[in-house]
Parts: sequence; structure tokens; C-alpha cells
Amino acid sequence: MRAEELLELIRNRRSIRAFLPDPLSEAEIEALVEAMRWAPSAGNLQSRFFYFITNKQLQRQLARAAWEQYFISEAPLVLVGCVDTRIQAHYGTRGVALYSVMDVSAAVQNVLLTAHALGLGSCWVSAFDEAAVHSILGLPSHLRPVVIIPIGKPAESPAPRPRAPKDRIVQFRD
Ligand SMILES: Cc1cc2nc3c(=O)[nH]c(=O)nc-3n(C[C@H](O)[C@H](O)[C@H](O)COP(=O)(O)O)c2cc1C
Repeated sequence: MRAEELLELIRNRRSIRAFLPDPLSEAEIEALVEAMRWAPSAGNLQSRFFYFITNKQLQRQLARAAWEQYFISEAPLVLVGCVDTRIQAHYGTRGVALYSVMDVSAAVQNVLLTAHALGLGSCWVSAFDEAAVHSILGLPSHLRPVVIIPIGKPAESPAPRPRAPKDRIVQFRD
């Protein structure tokens, strides 16, 4: 893929908050897993874990825990991304506070872009009651849920959200 094509993909991705119920194919799910697996990672410890959830009852409980963002449970597939806090043994508090969150975030962005390339919509959702999500999924104590990603065929095509002008977010120094 050429850089312009990749940039086009990045520019055209939108957060999607309305979905058709059609299930994803095995090939699509496999592509999302690969996208997540190949993200960069601090010390290559891969301090992340993703749940792929198709169970409707669980999805509805997650939507409720996400302050009633019910579009989550409209999607045929919902991912929950967790940081693996065992990274602390290698990188101390900086590992837990930063690296593990970055590990998950890099994987999330790969997943969002791959979903978009497959013609699927998705949304990064991090506003939720963490303790509630932990208990709904019965997570082990070393996993901390940091993101929920509903994925499915889009049932809306939102306009682009505004971006900050370059001079507000970039400074060149030579
Ligand atoms: C860390 C993070 C948390 C977010 N949490 C939510 C959320 O809880 N609910 C939601 O609808 N969108 C959420 N979003 C999506 C943003 O609202 C969205 O990316 C932003 O408005 C830009 O729109 P775009 O993704 O369509 O370009 C989140 C995005 C990020 C990066």
C-alpha cells in the first residue's frame, strides 16, 4: 500500500455509533486479531489482552457499564482491551501507568484502521465504570480494562469531526 493510500484510510475513518447486526466473518475477525498482535509494544512484552465478545447479554451489560452508551450492544462484535499490570515487574510504576496503556492504545489504533479497511465501523470507548466492567467479565486481578470497541457494518456515515490546525499541535525545530 502506498503512503497516500494509508493516509487516505486514516483520514476517512470515523467513529461509528450505529451498527447493522450482520456478524463478522472469520476472516474479518482473524484480520482484527492480527492487527492487534502486530502493534508495537514496550520491551515487546505485549502487556495487553483483548476479549472478543459476541454474547448479547454481556454486550448489554458492558453498554450499561459504559454510562448507557447502548450503541455498543448494537454491534455484532465488542472488544474489551485490557492492560496487563504484570509489566510492573519489568518497568515499575512507569510501566503500569504509561507503557501498558500505550501497548493497548497502539493495538486499538491498528484495530480501528483495519476495521475501516474491511468496510467495518468502530468506536473507541473509554468512558465506563472500570470496576463494573471488571466484574461483568470476571477479569483476573492483573488485567485492567481500558477500552471497549464495538465493531460492525456501519449504519451511519458521520461527517468528519474538526481537527486542530497544524500550528496548534506541531512545532518544527531545526
Ligand atoms: C481515549 C478515547 C476515549 C474515547 N471515549 C469515547 C467514549 O466513551 N464514547 C464515544 O462515543 N466516543 C469516544 N471516543 C471517540 C472520540 O469521541 C472520537 O474519536 C472523536 O470525537 C473524533 O472523532 P472521529 O473518531 O470520528 O474522528 C474516544 C476516543 C478516545 C481516543
